[in-house]
Amino acid sequence: MYDAVVIGAGPAGYVAAIKLAQHGKRVAVVEKSFVGGTCTNWGCIPTKAILSSAHLYRNVVEKASELGVIVQNVSFDFSKIKNHMNKVVVASRKGIEYLFKKNGIELVVGEAIVESPNSVKVQDKKLEAKYLVIATGSVPTLFPPFNEVPGIWTSDDVFKMERLPESVLIIGGGVIGVELATFFSSLNVKVTVVELLEHILPNEDADAAQVVAKSLKKKGVEIYESSKVVSVQPAENGYRSIVETKDGQLEKVTERVIVAVGRRPKIGDDVKALGLSIERGIKTDETMLTNVPNVYAIGDVRGQIMLAHVAMYEGVTAAENICGRTAKMDYSAVPSVIFTEPEVASVGIKEKDVDPSTVKIFSFPLMANGRARTMLEKDGFAKFIADSKTGRILGATIVGPYATELIMEAAIAVRNGLTAEQLEKTIHPHPTLSETLLGAIEGIVDRPIHL
Ligand code: NAI
Repeated sequence: MYDAVVIGAGPAGYVAAIKLAQHGKRVAVVEKSFVGGTCTNWGCIPTKAILSSAHLYRNVVEKASELGVIVQNVSFDFSKIKNHMNKVVVASRKGIEYLFKKNGIELVVGEAIVESPNSVKVQDKKLEAKYLVIATGSVPTLFPPFNEVPGIWTSDDVFKMERLPESVLIIGGGVIGVELATFFSSLNVKVTVVELLEHILPNEDADAAQVVAKSLKKKGVEIYESSKVVSVQPAENGYRSIVETKDGQLEKVTERVIVAVGRRPKIGDDVKALGLSIERGIKTDETMLTNVPNVYAIGDVRGQIMLAHVAMYEGVTAAENICGRTAKMDYSAVPSVIFTEPEVASVGIKEKDVDPSTVKIFSFPLMANGRARTMLEKDGFAKFIADSKTGRILGATIVGPYATELIMEAAIAVRNGLTAEQLEKTIHPHPTLSETLLGAIEGIVDRPIHL
């Protein structure tokens, strides 16, 4: 008998398994496809690989000459971009397989059929366990009329394409939609983005979304906000879509249509038959325990915050509890990282969700940062929000190069209740982009020196 059987080897499942094994538990992980799940195979890792190529290409085209670097005949080879992507994906998978071996975790390849809270069948093999951890992830959402259109793409199909299309219409201007729009438009594909809500990246503040929209438009992307696609029909060499905008209907003919309107948890009938409480996804308490004793659920299958880094922490939390320690998830400081150009990152509360009379908000423009100037970067800002009485940092949004790395200063502040004054008194190195954050923090405490 295993101490735990984990179903799904994505970021939630593989991290839970490693943590359990590190605590001396006997663990099996069942995976029907590749280890690493969506993130490693069809999500975070491959997108960032192809975005790295797109970003470098764009940088050379747009900046090389001004920086005094002479590059002639700049072009790209999509098959080599794909090779790079595939190599990185395989290396990441191998890394997880190595960690499984190192920690004595048994990987069972095949589809798990849950028979009871203590037993799982994989083909003709029966695995018995004291605890079951469900980490089966999510799949892209497709709903009518889009699910009836043959050949319509979701993000999964993007990684299988053999050549770049000439044009794409992306339905959904959320995280996946704008990251894909950034990739395609950087490589000269004609892109149209249709977003239902008021602005693209609706979970971020409007000022952050505006910077991204401006940069996409510079790359020729057409963006329709407060708009929806009401029909998609196959046409010669592609698809004809009818878009309902604020100003009436318009028709778009594109070679490809990509639907990026969210993801839904993947919960099999066998798992449902356990009698689990389901609301958007499998419901758990803050220890990741479901309503069925000994059954835990972690990651996207919960239908809550669908991010790899959250999934990993949920994996650790479930493992700790299975090992008899009390651990609870704390979602107070989940960083959001979006790999657009420029990048967007945020943590804690947003300006759009806060009562302005209770907080101090200061936004420092990237343009006033010396390091940014040396990099020929000017679009973006760092914005901090602090409690007006206590000075505690409640949230931050950063837009600019390496925003996805820089956000950690704010995440540590939000998670640990640090005040703006404490951050201000911490020496920030010069010349760095982190001084953009310092500028915003100084703005909250008093006045920024460099503005
Ligand atoms: P999302 O929820 O971020 O965005 C979906 C967008 O589609 C929303 O802006 C929504 O308003 C819009 N929408 C919905 N129905 C529509 C319609 N009929 N017409 C036009 N627009 C419509 O979901 P997305 O981008 O598909 O990503 C799925 C999940 O993957 C998210 O939870 C996301 O956080 C995660 N993810 C995170 C990444 C990151 O953090 N860098 C990268 C990729 C995915």
